[in-house]
Amino acid sequence: MDVSIEDLRLRAKRRLPRTLFEFIDGGAQDERTLRANTGDFDRWLMVPQQCVDVSQRPLGTTILGKAATLPLVIAPTGMAGLFRRKGELQAARAARAAGIPYTLSTMASVTIEEVGRDAAASAGDLWFQLYVQKDRGLTRSLVERAKAAGFRVLAVTIDLQQQGQRERDVRNGLTIPPRITLANMLDMTRRLPWIADVLLGPRLTFANFEGTANEKKGLTTLSKHINASFDPALTWADIAAFKQLWGGPVAVKGVLSAEDARRAVDAGCDGVIVSNHGGRQLDCVPSAVAALPGIVDAVAGRAEVIVDGGVRRGSDVIKALALGARACMIGRAMLWGLASGGEAGVGRTLQILKGQIDNGLALLGRPGIASLDRTALAPVDAYAPQAESGRNQRAY
Ligand SMILES: Cc1cc2nc3c(=O)[nH]c(=O)nc-3n(C[C@H](O)[C@H](O)[C@H](O)COP(=O)(O)O)c2cc1C
Repeated sequence: MDVSIEDLRLRAKRRLPRTLFEFIDGGAQDERTLRANTGDFDRWLMVPQQCVDVSQRPLGTTILGKAATLPLVIAPTGMAGLFRRKGELQAARAARAAGIPYTLSTMASVTIEEVGRDAAASAGDLWFQLYVQKDRGLTRSLVERAKAAGFRVLAVTIDLQQQGQRERDVRNGLTIPPRITLANMLDMTRRLPWIADVLLGPRLTFANFEGTANEKKGLTTLSKHINASFDPALTWADIAAFKQLWGGPVAVKGVLSAEDARRAVDAGCDGVIVSNHGGRQLDCVPSAVAALPGIVDAVAGRAEVIVDGGVRRGSDVIKALALGARACMIGRAMLWGLASGGEAGVGRTLQILKGQIDNGLALLGRPGIASLDRTALAPVDAYAPQAESGRNQRAY
């Protein structure tokens, strides 16, 4: 029985080829930001208040104008079909069943239209994540296709001018599609269920680019595709233009400073997603949770602030909400569920986080997520023995 997100991670580790497990697990260069994303949640403590009636603890909210049963959004993750056949569809169905939004990546292994046509997925709240291409005609057509397929929110990722240097992937020789080589053969012989499900399934491609000049036929690496096709000339003026083109809620994903958050609001964005891409882009940038409070203050209610990076526990979600986030996006936590158990596995991820948020609220003395604010937290330094004389010191 998997009772924590870490349990799902370990199950995913047993099922996936090592190269793919590390593709999910890893980050850029020394992975300092990757570690900080999880570690910096420990810089906040939760301070319970007792004897509060917590018999009702509603977890529902609205996210960018639509009701959600939990303050969670599935983050966009490219090529989820690497981990389970048509992984994006399975995750979208699980999100719909749980009542939260699902974000489809531009780099998905299934097309925008396939998700839009799938009754079990499209009944939910679908968001489309856009990577702006040098070919702006192609970019425009991606946006128009998402609109036509029924996607509600456009999330433009702005932190991928080039791919970050993910050294594990280079060392492992990760290719799309993956291949069996002399170096990984022994490892592959222990992954037969994955081979049957993914490698022997339909050919893995960047499905949304099929039939375009950006289509990559045969083996490629992610960085080759990205560095050849993605537009490093993207500016805030483009973001304002996407807002006009989309005509619905637009969020930018990859904001780490108060200044950029204000620029996003000025460009007309409805949502600001505080994110360092899960520590996979520029290393040594602030963790998501460290960047969050300053951005919440700068936005000052003019847009919704969503945060991702390092969310592994319900307590992480509680802390993010207490710091002013509307919701958290989950990337790896979802992928570990997907890799380990497909649609049901993603359902398990969401169930685990839901149970932990609910339990956390009860024990924190907060009757529902709407009652969370910064008074629920204290910086860990406030409890350091030298912080104050007398108060807060343990009397042993
Ligand atoms: C395997 C993988 C693929 C990803 N692909 C994308 C993508 O296609 N587009 C995007 O905006 N972010 C992508 N991300 C970043 C996630 O959307 C999200 O920002 C990050 O995973 C959050 O951190 P967490 O994994 O600690 O939850 C990817 C992350 C992972 C782990």
